[in-house]
Amino acid sequence: MRILYPETKYEERGKGYFKNVFIIHNDKRWFALKIGRDPQHIRKDMNTYNKLPLKTRNRNYAKIYWAKDIFMLQKWGEKVEVPRDEVKRLKKWGKEHGLTDIRPANIMRVDGRFKIVDAE
Ligand SMILES: Nc1ncnc2c1ncn2[C@@H]1O[C@H](COP(=O)(O)OP(=O)(O)O)[C@@H](O)[C@H]1O
Ligand SMILES: [Mg+2]
Repeated sequence: MRILYPETKYEERGKGYFKNVFIIHNDKRWFALKIGRDPQHIRKDMNTYNKLPLKTRNRNYAKIYWAKDIFMLQKWGEKVEVPRDEVKRLKKWGKEHGLTDIRPANIMRVDGRFKIVDAE
C-alpha cells in the first residue's frame, strides 16, 4: 500500500462483535479493511455476499473486493443517520434474499446510497 499510495493512512474505526474495522484511505480512495476474530467470520460474510443476485447486489450491499483468511476489503461507508424508509427498503430486499440482521447499525452511506455493510 505504501509503495503504491505513499499518502495512505489508516485508522481504527468500527468495532463489532466479530470484526475490527480499519479505514484505509488516501486522497482518492477509501476502503474498509475488516479483520475477523476468526477466518470463519469472514468466510460466512463472503458466502452471504456471494449468494446475493448480481444484478442488485452492489446497489444494496457495499461491494466486497476480496477476502482471504481473517481479512476482507470492502467499499467504505459513511456513518450517517439512516432514514426509516431506507431501513424498510433494505430489510425488504434482504428478506427476499435470506438476509437477517438488517438494522441501522449495519447500514451505511456508500457512494451516496444507503447500503448494507454487514448481514447474516
Ligand atoms: N464498509 C464499511 N465502511 C466503514 N465502516 C464500516 C464498514 N463496515 C462496517 N463498518 C463499521 O464497523 C462496525 C463493525 O463492522 P461489522 O461488519 O458490522 O462487524 P461485526 O460482524 O463485528 O458486526 C460497523 O458497525 C460500522 O461502524
Ligand atoms: Mg455488524
